[in-house]
Amino acid sequence: MNFTLTEEQEMIKQAAKDFAHAELLPGIIERDEKQQFPSEQVKKMGELGFMGMMVDPEYGGSGLDTLSYVLTMEELSKIDASSSVIVSVNNSLVCYGLESFGSEEQKEKYLKKLASGEIIGAFCLSEPEAGSDATSQKTTAIDKGDHYVLNGTKNWITNGNSASVYLVIAQTHIEKGYKGINALIVEKGMPGFEIGPKENKLGIRGSDTHSLIFNDVKIPKENRIGEDGFGFKFAMKTLAGGRIGIAAQALGIAAGAYELAKNYSKERRAFGTEIANHQAIAFKLADMHTQIEAARYLVYKAAWDKDQGNNYDISGAMAKLYASQVAMETTVEAVQIFGGNGFVKEYHVERMMRDAKITQIYEGTSEIQKIVISRNILKN
Ligand code: CAA
Repeated sequence: MNFTLTEEQEMIKQAAKDFAHAELLPGIIERDEKQQFPSEQVKKMGELGFMGMMVDPEYGGSGLDTLSYVLTMEELSKIDASSSVIVSVNNSLVCYGLESFGSEEQKEKYLKKLASGEIIGAFCLSEPEAGSDATSQKTTAIDKGDHYVLNGTKNWITNGNSASVYLVIAQTHIEKGYKGINALIVEKGMPGFEIGPKENKLGIRGSDTHSLIFNDVKIPKENRIGEDGFGFKFAMKTLAGGRIGIAAQALGIAAGAYELAKNYSKERRAFGTEIANHQAIAFKLADMHTQIEAARYLVYKAAWDKDQGNNYDISGAMAKLYASQVAMETTVEAVQIFGGNGFVKEYHVERMMRDAKITQIYEGTSEIQKIVISRNILKN
């Protein structure tokens, strides 16, 4: 076992940290309040190579390992989870999905722009009646020879309006169940493709979440990813890696709130001393620190599994399950340590508490992670 980061990984972690402090922190409270998408920041993250971190440089990416991506997600999420989810979806769902399963033409046409951050992408699986039960797709992609005709609605789509390219999961052969599902590349502006209203959310309010409506959208056959019927496996394989990104996001939110709470407890005085000197606070910090370290090793292990070519279904699910729980618990405790100030926006921890909740929901709820984990442990 080796717990030491390489020089390159240390540099990337520092670059992400510096960027988060210099570019994500300013204006964060206002963006949260106004639900403002961080367009300028996303553009700069593209220039820094954060939007296609694991993609081969041949396709415009940074050619880094999953651990470097996780370290970046962690540092960005310590400050701004709205920005980090944009990075996560683009990297681990859209770019990874296209690089691993797309055709050479699709990579040339779409991946290069997505990986360099010139455009961003969205991953469209959830529907009004297909969230956790992902096989129950009602969106249809009917085969018309040289093209598909896409009809239906997708819900809660991250980067819903800001994306230019959408990977859409839809049912082609209804009688074949999940074996009849396809994944299609849909471009913004295709006739019949409408973007629904923006969701007014509890947390990650800077990211834009929309429903999408498809009315007889004509999608060329060459925009199908993989073989006919590969769509559900595509979604599952891609989400398995996406969960590592969200686990890293949860870890970052927890670590960011903990660092704020620790610093505050060394300054804030009560009963004649800094509150850190009271065991009631010190023990909270001890628990937070221990849980964050445990979450960190699960997240890094999942990234390591992916980099080693090991199966990471279970390690990614465990990392997401645990890190998201730690994010929720840590942020609630951070608000408690800040007391009245914790309830006020300018101290940041209330936003982190709101942001933490989604990590237990998207890319598979905690209950779905337990399905994945239990099925994997029971089959051996
Ligand atoms: N890799 C490869 N194949 C997989 C797989 C994986 N990780 N997981 C499942 N499959 C395959 C199975 O092997 C099976 O195929 P075979 O019959 O050929 O073996 C097929 O997929 C169906 O699998 P299941 O029978 O296990 O299907 P299920 O209906 O029981 O569902 C589930 C499994 C894990 C619950 C799945 O439905 C699931 O993950 N649901 C949650 C979906 C989700 O994460 N949604 C999040 C939306 S995306 C999002 O949030 C993005 C965002 O914007 C932030």
